[in-house]
Amino acid sequence: MSGELGLFGATDRAGTPSNLDQVRAAARTCRNCDLWERATQTVFGEGPVTARVILVGEQPGDYEDVKGRPFVGPAGKLLDEALAQAKLDRSLTYVTNAVKHFKWEPLGKRRLHKKPNAKEIAACQPWLLAEIKLIKPEVLVCLGATAAGSLFGSKVKVSTHRGRLFESDYAPQNLVTIHPSAILRVPDPRLKDAEFARLVEDLQLVSKYLGTR
Ligand code: URA
Ligand code: SF4
Repeated sequence: MSGELGLFGATDRAGTPSNLDQVRAAARTCRNCDLWERATQTVFGEGPVTARVILVGEQPGDYEDVKGRPFVGPAGKLLDEALAQAKLDRSLTYVTNAVKHFKWEPLGKRRLHKKPNAKEIAACQPWLLAEIKLIKPEVLVCLGATAAGSLFGSKVKVSTHRGRLFESDYAPQNLVTIHPSAILRVPDPRLKDAEFARLVEDLQLVSKYLGTR
């Protein structure tokens, strides 16, 4: 099924509507890969069309899948804290994901997050590109390897590219940094704090550039 629609199904539907609400509505019934089948709903990006910053995560998690909103679970809470400490109000940002449906497998009664594969990331990329095109952010932030890989390919790595802004065709300034969920998984509390502080430092590059701090 996904092969029939391929990339062009979403490009046509995502590329033609002229505003974000139309694109969001079109994404509700996307069938460009198989992930929609096991997910509750499409979790599209959220935030004002005038946002100066676009934040791109990986895919909705368990909470997001149920609520239909991006970054509203534990990772979202950590992200909100990091944004606040970096003097970047979340309301100034548009928050979205590289993949718009929750991918999971059952583990007892729980739904265990599964990483999207390259095919799913590629199938969903047109929605992300449509969002970037409509928001026209001053700064684009990739949270983690999935977002960075979707937009920049394998040549941009979080480990080598974090800690500085760089130019791209997507936005005048771009940043790649760690995903908040990766911080939540750090078992040692001191290392966890250090990783959080590094995320805040990375985000401060954005607030300094925008002059919000
Ligand atoms: N992790 C993500 O990458 N995105 C979300 O929306 C929530 C958790
Ligand atoms: Fe479409 Fe993306 Fe959902 Fe796949 S994950 S069905 S490409 S919206």
